[in-house]
Amino acid sequence: MQVAPSILSADFGHLARDVEAICEGGCDLVHVDVMDGHFVPNLTIGPVVVEAVAKVATKPLDIHLMVENNSFFVDLFAPLKPAYISFHSEEEKHPHRLIQKIRALGIKPAIVLNPHTPPEAIEYLLADLDMVLLMSVNPGFGGQAFIPSVIDKAKRLKTLIMKHNPACLIEVDGGVNDVNVKQLSEAGVDVVVAGSFVYKHPDGIKVAIASLR
Ligand code: DX5
Ligand code: ZN
Repeated sequence: MQVAPSILSADFGHLARDVEAICEGGCDLVHVDVMDGHFVPNLTIGPVVVEAVAKVATKPLDIHLMVENNSFFVDLFAPLKPAYISFHSEEEKHPHRLIQKIRALGIKPAIVLNPHTPPEAIEYLLADLDMVLLMSVNPGFGGQAFIPSVIDKAKRLKTLIMKHNPACLIEVDGGVNDVNVKQLSEAGVDVVVAGSFVYKHPDGIKVAIASLR
C-alpha cells in the first residue's frame, strides 16, 4: 500500500517541519488539499504556500483540487511539477480535455469521485487516467468518519480498471486508519491518503505510516 499523508492535518505554524516529518517518516506522496471556498465549504492554500511545501518535500506532490475553475488552478500549480493533479468529476464539464491538458504539462492526471458518484460515470475516461481518487468522506475537512460504501465502490472500480487500463491506480481519501486500510487493500486500493491518522498518531508519524503500509 502506498501512503500519501495529507498536510491538511499538519501544524501550519510549523509546516516545513511537518512536511519533512512525513517525508522522513517514509511516505510515498505528499497529499496537498487545495480548497477554494466555493466547490467545498472550506478554504486552504494556494501556490505561494504549496511552493514552500515543494521546496522542502523530498517526495512527490499529489495535489487534490477541490475548486471551481479547475483549468485555472492547473495552470497555477503546474510550475511546481507535482507528480499528480486530481480534479473532481462533479465539477468539470470537459474532464477528457482537462486530462489531456494535465498530461501535456508532464503531470499525471487523476480524477476524484465524491461519495455519491458511481465509478461507471468515469468508465470512458479510465484509459486516459493514471489514478482515480475515491472520496471516503465528503470533501472539505479532515478528521471526518470513513464512509464504508467506498469499499464496494473500489471493487466495482477495480473491475472497470482491469477492463480498460490495468495500470491506473486507485486512491482513497478520508477517514483512513489502520483498521479500514485492510479492507481497502483487499478491494484493490493502491494508495491511501491519511491526515489525522498520520499527524495525530500517539506513537508518531513513522509508526503511523508503517502501520498503513
Ligand atoms: C478532505 C481531504 C482529505 C483530508 C483527509 O477534503 O481531501 O485529504 O484531509 O483527512 P483525514 O485523514 O483526517 O480524513
Ligand atoms: Zn484530499
